[in-house]
Amino acid sequence: MPRVPPEVAIPDEKRLEASLRPRNFEQYVGQTTVVEKLKVYVAAAKARGDALDHCLFSGPPGLGKTSLAHILAAELGVGLHVTSGPALERKGDVTGLLINLQPRDLLFIDEIHRLPAPVEEYLYPAMEDFRLDITIDSGPAARAMKIDLPSFTLVGATTRTGLLTSPLRDRFQIQERLDYYAPSDLETILARSAGILGVQLAEDGAREIATRSRGTPRIANRLLRRIRDFAEVAGVKRVGREVAARALERLEVDRSGLDPMDRKILLTILEKFGGGPVGLDTIAASVGEQRETVEDVYEPFLMQEGFLHRTPRGRMATARCWRYFDKPPPADLQGALF
Ligand SMILES: Nc1ncnc2c1ncn2[C@@H]1O[C@H](COP(=O)(O)OP(=O)(O)O)[C@@H](O)[C@H]1O
Ligand SMILES: [Mg+2]
Repeated sequence: MPRVPPEVAIPDEKRLEASLRPRNFEQYVGQTTVVEKLKVYVAAAKARGDALDHCLFSGPPGLGKTSLAHILAAELGVGLHVTSGPALERKGDVTGLLINLQPRDLLFIDEIHRLPAPVEEYLYPAMEDFRLDITIDSGPAARAMKIDLPSFTLVGATTRTGLLTSPLRDRFQIQERLDYYAPSDLETILARSAGILGVQLAEDGAREIATRSRGTPRIANRLLRRIRDFAEVAGVKRVGREVAARALERLEVDRSGLDPMDRKILLTILEKFGGGPVGLDTIAASVGEQRETVEDVYEPFLMQEGFLHRTPRGRMATARCWRYFDKPPPADLQGALF
């Protein structure tokens, strides 16, 4: 089952995801260092009666960036306005949003790296001085005007901070990177989701799903819903390790949580390119995926798990990768542990 990128997720999927979204810091599992810091910033901002400083969250899809934006607004007790980089095509789109903000409100811009350059530059004074510089009329009658804005918090989310221009990145006083979750955190998340979905999930069932979810809460929750379907059809009441494992097999999620596209990428590198090095564009073309998707969605996990590494000349399969697919590693990798 290929993962669906967030922007094309079907509405039903979106609705279910919203029902499982953590509502406050209490329900937000893991990412403790990030959460502990954010709690302090929120408490300080509230005590001063100021808007929270602008925040930038980065990390692969499904790790909880959007959830954090919702939680910050809830914990601050302010309004949340949600938009995305590609939706803000013109400066006018931003003007409309900003002049409607209440003091200390939170504006969430998802995929902020996809803001058009003129819109991005138009945001700079808004972020820095809560001010918009607009031009009225054109030609000789053109006049520059400044509009004062209420103080507000911009929360941006991006898959990689490297995709942002440095002037934009520098205007976020708070920058946090989300990492893949430990299986124990995913087990906690799954237990809560099972409660909401009315699934009887045994501890060993949760563990089985947790270790095969690519360290990603969104994937864990999605697998849980699919496994629930399998269990219901099979007339099974309680999802234990075996039921979970069998369903995951049917879903083509392997024992390390690799899905068909993960395996396709790795096998392409092994079989077509002798283990690499091979360039990202070549890999993307060979597997029929977009370069950005391979780089932001698939690669980070494959690298973290030690299947792949980056070299100046391209991506290379590791010794672990060769062994995982029961293929003898080339001579220079034999004896290598990774
Ligand atoms: N820390 C967390 N604790 C509990 N559930 C989480 C957590 N992070 C993510 N989730 C779950 O994963 C889903 C996707 O998270 P989301 O915030 O949309 O990720 P992102 O915006 O980074 O792609 C959420 O709806 C929620 O169910
Ligand atoms: Mg998101």
